[in-house]
Amino acid sequence: MKKMLVTGASGFIGSFYVDEALKRGWDVWAGIRRHSNRAFLTDPSIHLIDLNYGNGLQQQIEQHVAQYGKWECVIHCAGITKSPDEADFYNINYEYTKQLIDALRNSGNTPSIFIFMSSMAAYGPGDEKHYTPLRSDSTPQPNTAYGKSKLIAEQYLQSLPDFPYIILRPTGVYGPRERDYYVMAKMVQRGVDVALGFKPQLLNFIYIKDLVNVCFSAIESPLHNKDWFVADGDIYTSKAYTDIVKNVLHKKHVFRITFPLFVVHLISVFGALFCKVTGKPSLISPDKIRIMKQRNWTCDITPLERDLGFKASYNLQQGMEETIVWYKENGWL
Ligand SMILES: NC(=O)c1ccc[n+]([C@@H]2O[C@H](COP(=O)([O-])OP(=O)(O)OC[C@H]3O[C@@H](n4cnc5c(N)ncnc54)[C@H](OP(=O)(O)O)[C@@H]3O)[C@@H](O)[C@H]2O)c1
Repeated sequence: MKKMLVTGASGFIGSFYVDEALKRGWDVWAGIRRHSNRAFLTDPSIHLIDLNYGNGLQQQIEQHVAQYGKWECVIHCAGITKSPDEADFYNINYEYTKQLIDALRNSGNTPSIFIFMSSMAAYGPGDEKHYTPLRSDSTPQPNTAYGKSKLIAEQYLQSLPDFPYIILRPTGVYGPRERDYYVMAKMVQRGVDVALGFKPQLLNFIYIKDLVNVCFSAIESPLHNKDWFVADGDIYTSKAYTDIVKNVLHKKHVFRITFPLFVVHLISVFGALFCKVTGKPSLISPDKIRIMKQRNWTCDITPLERDLGFKASYNLQQGMEETIVWYKENGWL
C-alpha cells in the first residue's frame, strides 16, 4: 500500500486531503500537533504523527522510514494564514517547509511527489487598474507577511531541480469545516454584510471538493516541478458573492455596510494591538486587511486546464448550497 503524509491534517484543507487519500487507497499519516483538533480525523486507519519541526525532524523521519517505509507522496498543508506576530509567518510557512524538505532530501527519502500548498497571496495584489488575472509568469509582488512567506517557500522549492514538487496556489477556498467564509455567512444570516472600500473588487473562488480533485489529479499525473493557480474559473464581484450567500440562506434583506479603507486600516491597527495583548489571531489583523482590501483576486487557470484537464464541478452557487447545508446540519448556523 502506498504511503502518504499530509501535514496540517487537522485543518480545513488537510482533513479533506486525508479523506480523499483514504478513499483512493493510500496508507495515510496525518501530521498533527499534540493539541490539534481531531474531529475530522476519526477513521481508525489514519496514523497520526506529530512532526518535530525545529528540532530533530530529520532523525524522526529516518526512524519513521526504518519502521514503516518512506512516504511516496507528501502534501504539505501545515501553515498559518493569520497571526498576531508577523514573524510567525516566516517561521511556520517558510522555515518549517524548508525543514521538512531538507529532512526528506538529506535522509534520502525524497518522495515521488511533494505538493506544496501555497496561495495566490504569494503574488500580491496584481493589476488593480485593469484587473488582469494573475499568471505564473506575472512578477510576484506580495504585500503581506503571509504572501511573502509563501513566496520564499515556493522559491526554495524551485531552487531544487532534483526534488519533484507541485506548487498549488489556490484562491479563497470555501466549503464545509472552513471558518472564515463561515463567519461571513453567519453575518449575512444575521442580516449584515460588511464590504471594504468603494472601488470594485473582483474575486475568484474554489470549492474544497474541486481543490481536492486538482490535488489528486496532480499526484496521479506524471507532471512535476510545476506551479498552478487554482480557482473555479468564474469571476464575481464581492456584492455578487454576498448575493449568492443571501439567496442560499433565503435572506430577503441584508444591510450592506461599506467601510472606507482608511477606517478599516485604523480598526486593524487597534485589532493588532488587542491581539498582541491577548495573543489571539484576529480576522482583521493589518496583514489580513491588506489581503481583504485587494481589489483584484483573479487568476488565470488556463495552465491548470491544459495540464490536468481541470474543469470545476461546482460553481459558487452549487458549492455554497452544499456548504450551508453542512453548516446547518452540524449546528454551525
Ligand atoms: N483556506 C484557504 O482559503 C487557503 C487558500 C490558499 C492557500 N491556503 C493554504 O492551505 C493550507 C491549509 O489551509 P487551511 O485553510 O486548511 O488552514 P487551517 O484550517 O488553519 O489549517 C492549518 C493547519 O496547519 C497546522 N499548523 C498551523 N501552525 C502549525 C505549526 N506551528 N506546526 C504544525 N502545524 C501547524 C494546523 O494545526 P492545528 O490544527 O494544530 O492548529 C492545521 O492543521 C495553508 O498552508 C494555507 O496557507 C489556504
